[in-house]
Amino acid sequence: MERRTAARTAVVWDAVHGLLNGGRTAEQSVLDIGGGTGGLAVRIAAQGHRVTVIDPSPDALAALARRADEEGVADRVTGLQGDLGNLSDLAPEGGVDLVLCHGVLGLVDDPAGALSTITSVLRPGGALSLLVSQRHAAVLARAMAGHFIQASEILAGEQERGEHRFTAEELAQLLGAAGFTATTTHGIRVFADLVPSSLLDLEPGASAALLELERAVADRPEYLTLASQLHVIATR
Ligand SMILES: C[S@@+](CC[C@H](N)C(=O)[O-])C[C@H]1O[C@@H](n2cnc3c(N)ncnc32)[C@H](O)[C@@H]1O
Repeated sequence: MERRTAARTAVVWDAVHGLLNGGRTAEQSVLDIGGGTGGLAVRIAAQGHRVTVIDPSPDALAALARRADEEGVADRVTGLQGDLGNLSDLAPEGGVDLVLCHGVLGLVDDPAGALSTITSVLRPGGALSLLVSQRHAAVLARAMAGHFIQASEILAGEQERGEHRFTAEELAQLLGAAGFTATTTHGIRVFADLVPSSLLDLEPGASAALLELERAVADRPEYLTLASQLHVIATR
C-alpha cells in the first residue's frame, strides 16, 4: 500500500477490524453503502466475512468485481447497483451485523433520512461505521493555501463540490436523532494530508512514525478539529 494511504486508512481499519473480530459470530454480514471499488470490502471479505457493496457507479462495481476476483474472495463479495435511496430493498434479508457508510453521508441531500434508513437494515445489536469529512480541517487547509473566501464558505457550512463537511457536534446530533449511540469517535488524517509526500518517500522510517502518531492522536478530543475526517462506530 502507498505510504500516505497506509497512514490515512490505518485508524479506520484498526477500528473496523477490532469490531468484526470481537463480533458474536466468526462470519459476519457486512453492508458497505457507497463502497466504491471495494478497497475495504475486499479486505473485510479476506477476513472471512460476507460483504454486500451497494454503489450507484457501474464502473466502481466492475472494479470491485475484478478486485474481489484477484484476491480470491469473489464468493464472499456481492456488488449491487443502488444507493442510499433504495438501500432497504437491496440489503440482505434479515439485516446485517455491520453497515459501513464511508465518504457518502456528506453527498446526500438528507443525511438524517439516510441514517434512519441505515437503522432499518441493521440487525438488533448491529453497528454502524461512519466516516465523514470534518469541516474545520477543510477551513484550515483552504486558508493555508490562501483560499480565504473558500475557507469562509466552508466555515459557514456551505457545500463545496456537492460535499457537506460535518463538525463533531453536528454528527453527534444527527446520530442521536437516529437513535444511535457513538461507542468510539476517532479523528482520521490529522497530519497525513499536511506532510509532503517527498518526506515520506525519502526519510527512512518516516511513514511508520507518522502512522504511529496518527494512532496516538486519533482518540484525543483536542485533535478532532484538525482531523480531515471523523470516524464513528455507533450502535443502537
Ligand atoms: C468518496 S467515495 C467513497 C468510497 C468508499 N466508501 C471509500 O471510503 O473509499 C463515494 C462513493 O459513494 C458513492 N455514492 C454517491 N452517491 C451515493 C448515494 N446517494 N448512495 C450511495 N452511494 C453513493 C459513489 O459512487 C462513490 O463510490
